[in-house]
Amino acid sequence: MNIIASPQLPVELNAPPGLRHTRLIAWVAEIAALTQPDRIEWCDGSEQEYDRLCDLMVRAGTLRRLDPLKRPNSYLAWSDPSDVARVEDRTFICSENEEDAGPTNNWAAPEAMRQTLAGLFAGCMRGRTMYVIPFSMGPLGSPIAHIGVELSDSPYVVANMRMMTRMGSQVYDVLGTDGDFVPCVHSVGKPLAAGEADVAWPCNDTKYIVHYPQDREIWSFGSGYGGNALLGKKCFALRIASAMGREQGWMAEHMLVLGVTSPQGKKMHLAAAFPSACGKTNFSMMIPPQSLPGWKITTIGDDIAWIKPGPDGRLYAINPEAGYFGVAPGTNEKTNFNCMASLRENVIFTNVALTDDGDVWWEGMGPAPAHCLDWQGKDWTPDSGRKAAHPNARFTVAAVQNPAIDPEWDNPDGVAIDAFIFGGRRSDTVPLVTEARSWIEGVYMAATLGSETTAAAAGAQGVVRRDPFAMLPFCGYNMSSYFAHWLELGLQLQASGATLPRIFCVNWFQTDEHGRFIWPGFGENMRVLKWMLQRIEGTAQGEDKLFGITPLHGEISWEGLDFDEAKFDRITDIDREAWRKELDSHAELFDKLAHRLPAELPAFLQQLRARLGA
Ligand code: OXD
Ligand code: MN
Repeated sequence: MNIIASPQLPVELNAPPGLRHTRLIAWVAEIAALTQPDRIEWCDGSEQEYDRLCDLMVRAGTLRRLDPLKRPNSYLAWSDPSDVARVEDRTFICSENEEDAGPTNNWAAPEAMRQTLAGLFAGCMRGRTMYVIPFSMGPLGSPIAHIGVELSDSPYVVANMRMMTRMGSQVYDVLGTDGDFVPCVHSVGKPLAAGEADVAWPCNDTKYIVHYPQDREIWSFGSGYGGNALLGKKCFALRIASAMGREQGWMAEHMLVLGVTSPQGKKMHLAAAFPSACGKTNFSMMIPPQSLPGWKITTIGDDIAWIKPGPDGRLYAINPEAGYFGVAPGTNEKTNFNCMASLRENVIFTNVALTDDGDVWWEGMGPAPAHCLDWQGKDWTPDSGRKAAHPNARFTVAAVQNPAIDPEWDNPDGVAIDAFIFGGRRSDTVPLVTEARSWIEGVYMAATLGSETTAAAAGAQGVVRRDPFAMLPFCGYNMSSYFAHWLELGLQLQASGATLPRIFCVNWFQTDEHGRFIWPGFGENMRVLKWMLQRIEGTAQGEDKLFGITPLHGEISWEGLDFDEAKFDRITDIDREAWRKELDSHAELFDKLAHRLPAELPAFLQQLRARLGA
């Protein structure tokens, strides 16, 4: 940790009496001296603390309490309209050398960035409370878990971190006197002058989301929203942790993790990577169709997986998070019954609409109310021509409220992964499902993943962007080195005789000439998972195609689903013209990532081109 400046400490430090971690205490003092808060509060993670902060936010206008009968113990926040999504163009990876950040990240020289941040953070918490938020990513004390401490001037962040992480005093016990933690500094960037009234959602037009992967430090300024502010999530669990994993021989991935249990009681665990807002939460809580009786899906995680090799050489995954920060629009009892059940109480909603009877509504939840207040507090009716909820509106809820939570979700040893799945949102070209024939082919499939963009990040929507491993905005180091890490770790484990997870590539999103999805998706994806499990068990043969092994029509269970062979062929076929273009676009990606790109990947592209006869 770097000491930026040390003006006078303006407030009582108030460290908990039992705390003996001198490095932590000194760092809190250092940041308080820099940011000059009016008060320091060390969070204990208790329910009383949560209730007190929620009351405070209700009084400040940040939260509205929802109707206690309709949505017990739940709140609604409306953010500033300028602060509604992750800001990828304001996100920086400050490694010593620019090439260690690579061409897909914004890089800034660490010393210059420290100077910039020193200016921005000086006095930035004046008039506010600085909260000390100790949290564990992963079960407390798990060999796969790691600790962070976030200092934030936002009570909204405290309340959300309590659901999203294992947060509170128990973390100090794990830290002991000298345990390692990732220091995370967050400010909404809106100091208050003496007597100045606050606004409901303080933030700043100047935003910086900064990572120092070598020092393992995070600094975030100017935003109170989601991944910009809840620093355990994308900043720590993906950007910093991916860099840690590379050094230490493990993986931090943008993956949900689920358990699939067959009617015979055999259970497997799958980890699946999809770019933001491709329905990961829905997939992780899926309910198999009634026509496939006896199959069960259970959720270990909906967004992030930390994966370490176990003593037997297999890869074991934990969900480092303890809650879901999911996209609300489009979620309903049909698309995600378990999620709707999770949201019945104890929820913080952000940027959804408020109904006249004190409940929430969003597009795709069910019939529109005749009138409500939209996410900006303005009157809304179905004919008003605008969305009532922001497309990136979210819910925050504790994982334990999910009726489909996996009994192993909190197991400190994690679960052994049987398969990785990579999928993007592609309206054409990429088949419904294929299996990689080798680890290298699987890494190739993941490295060239593409997806049509959505609202989870600010920027243009609906264009295909290459999103390798669904990690484009989240890899804390050079993407080509990340590919190399995947290849090396896998091939090394394979050489030691370990069983590696199989790798599959999926695309639920092909559309017909009217723009309608061809594959029904949701629970019907169970049919595809079932085929994957048959492949793992060696009971499905599939067909060798250009891009991996594809199921034969007869290998998928079709009972209860009217899906004819012509449609199936359409979404599993390789269109040669489309694939010529697709491979050109892979080549463009590899040109961009040429520096440090493992030779195996362009060599594999050449093989594909030869097979296609391009
Ligand atoms: C998320 C994202 O919020 O990927 O999970 O953007
Ligand atoms: Mn995500």
